[in-house]
Amino acid sequence: MTRTTVGIVLNGVTGRMGLRQHLVRSLLAIRREGGLPLADGSRLWPHPVLVGRSESKLRAVAEEHGLTDWTTDLPAALARPDVQIYFDAQVTSARSKALRSAIEAGKHIYTEKPIAEDLTAAVELAELADAAGIKHGVVQDKLFLPGLRKLDRLVRSGFFGRILSIRGEFGYWVFEGDWQAAQRPSWNYRAADGGGITTDMFPHWHYVLEQIFGPVTAVTAKVATHIERRWDEDGQPYEATADDAAYGIFEIAGPDSSIIAQINSSWAVRVNRDELVEFQVDGTHGSAVAGLHHCRIQPRAATPKPVWNPDLATSDRFRDQWQEVPDNEQFDNGFKAQWELFLRHVVEDVPYSWDLWAGARGVQLAELGLRSSQEGRRLEVPELRK
Ligand SMILES: NC(=O)c1ccc[n+]([C@@H]2O[C@H](COP(=O)([O-])OP(=O)(O)OC[C@H]3O[C@@H](n4cnc5c(N)ncnc54)[C@H](O)[C@@H]3O)[C@@H](O)[C@H]2O)c1
Repeated sequence: MTRTTVGIVLNGVTGRMGLRQHLVRSLLAIRREGGLPLADGSRLWPHPVLVGRSESKLRAVAEEHGLTDWTTDLPAALARPDVQIYFDAQVTSARSKALRSAIEAGKHIYTEKPIAEDLTAAVELAELADAAGIKHGVVQDKLFLPGLRKLDRLVRSGFFGRILSIRGEFGYWVFEGDWQAAQRPSWNYRAADGGGITTDMFPHWHYVLEQIFGPVTAVTAKVATHIERRWDEDGQPYEATADDAAYGIFEIAGPDSSIIAQINSSWAVRVNRDELVEFQVDGTHGSAVAGLHHCRIQPRAATPKPVWNPDLATSDRFRDQWQEVPDNEQFDNGFKAQWELFLRHVVEDVPYSWDLWAGARGVQLAELGLRSSQEGRRLEVPELRK
């Protein structure tokens, strides 16, 4: 069988996302399946070139996964003619500089979100990429997860009638790092290092809202730093200067009328829900609660009629009154599913809408959310020119 090898620089491959999701569960998983089948019957074979700052860490990752191609020299990797794609999963603050040099080297770009720390840099990247005529994409993994795929299916089927509102809850307790190790890297909690939950999570909420429901037209947000002192990877205390919670209201131009979404994001909340993120969508004809994996519905005609009587404890088991939406298809890892689409976009030119412009709109929403909180007011989301 004919095999087309595609060289992919993976920068930030020693990090949580770069290693687990992108290298192991996406690209190496595609190789374990014999490569990605293409329309002409041939297979695409991803060839990872691991790039990072630490020789010893890169060598260890390479050895563990039977790989040999790694370097700490990014310019040299970008100069290689057998490399077609640059992928970035570095810390957010290091991203735009690296993306820029990859675009200048004429490589196609695929990147983690947020694509830059501010909107100006994000738009510049999208413009540069278009001008260079390269293909570009941004990770929007949540869209490819079973719960949200099923939610999307409900919206397309007209299940909800007129969609009224969305309530999202995201978060979990991130340990401070003193008496139990923190489960997220410490840069996430330092503003100067590109941390903050608004910058991290609003880009996710942006693509979920925009692609499933409609364009986000306005935002009102209040952000907070609830835990002000944390301990880093070396056990040293530091001041947490970045926001660790963001409470947002997003207005969406839905197909029939405006939809109001409220989404709480917090690393200082204890989980009392079925999944780490859940969205409840209420419409005139039915409601749904979608997480990353499950999606449950309650149609209008099957809606029970609870009676409000605060004097009596209710015997209703409200959660049992919902119906599970069946999978009806096999869902692959969300990151891998999106990698496959991007690789097909590069080699077969299949359409691909999750580009740097979509990434820039996510950065825009995060920036406006932070400004809304600072200024204590609602802000409209201007349309980005393309
Ligand atoms: N799509 C998602 O669901 C998702 C989830 C978490 C994080 N992310 C994004 O992925 C990116 C990486 O996040 P992570 O949680 O894997 O981070 P991480 O700290 O685990 O990994 C960061 C990587 O960047 C490298 N790096 C380069 N320059 C650095 C510097 N100056 N300081 C520290 N590290 C540097 C590190 O060596 C490491 O390989 C972030 O931009 C984040 O927003 C996306």
